[in-house]
Amino acid sequence: MKMTSAKKPFPIVSASILAADFSRLREEIDAAGQAGADWLHLDVMDGHFVPNISFGPGLINKIRPHTSLVFDAHLMISNPDPFIDRLIEAGAQWLTFPAELELDWQDLAESLHSQNIKTGVALNPETPVEFIKDSVQYFDLVLVMAVQPGFGGQSFNPEILPKIDKLRKIRQDLSEKNSFLISVDGGVNSENITQIVARGVDIVVAGSFIFQSDDYKLAIDMLKSTRC
Ligand code: DX5
Ligand code: ZN
Repeated sequence: MKMTSAKKPFPIVSASILAADFSRLREEIDAAGQAGADWLHLDVMDGHFVPNISFGPGLINKIRPHTSLVFDAHLMISNPDPFIDRLIEAGAQWLTFPAELELDWQDLAESLHSQNIKTGVALNPETPVEFIKDSVQYFDLVLVMAVQPGFGGQSFNPEILPKIDKLRKIRQDLSEKNSFLISVDGGVNSENITQIVARGVDIVVAGSFIFQSDDYKLAIDMLKSTRC
């Protein structure tokens, strides 16, 4: 039986498997789920948009039957088009694209929504929020990168924090037209979670802080226990 807690678990924690032990991936995913992760963050990299290669629809398809966690795919690829259908077939439920690609966002979001897929946009640390001003209404999620995309285990850059304020303001102005979620990705840990949550994010992505820890439940509890 689940213990009821006075504190509502918050925010949504999306565990980035990039930091998991791939030789034991199924166990790692089970452990993250049992420890309280809400979503699995799947970093798909092509060696072109970012200087690293990770995994793609093949691996996502293999892990899909073994967990009910939400699959949150973060695409760091220059040419996502040929992969979209395959990622959906593999079981991705959220697809987040780099803002810097300047795709036809309305068209993309409408196509994904018609397939019950949520659409996100990711902002590199140097990309300002204003860059997505005209397209933000189409998205279900804005992912604020706190590190240069490409690798796990980097240090969180606090200079991105004001972007969260700006996004909340934009969301407020959009009011009923859209209520996208705000997520922060890169270097999230127990030392910076308070300031991230204080800004009002909905989701935090964490890889190393969870998978490099000795106690995944303790790590996830630390990310969720901050209230403001
Ligand atoms: C970086 C990825 C992140 C990364 C997070 O390119 O998008 O999702 O896996 O890992 P940590 O939490 O280790 O920074
Ligand atoms: Zn990511």
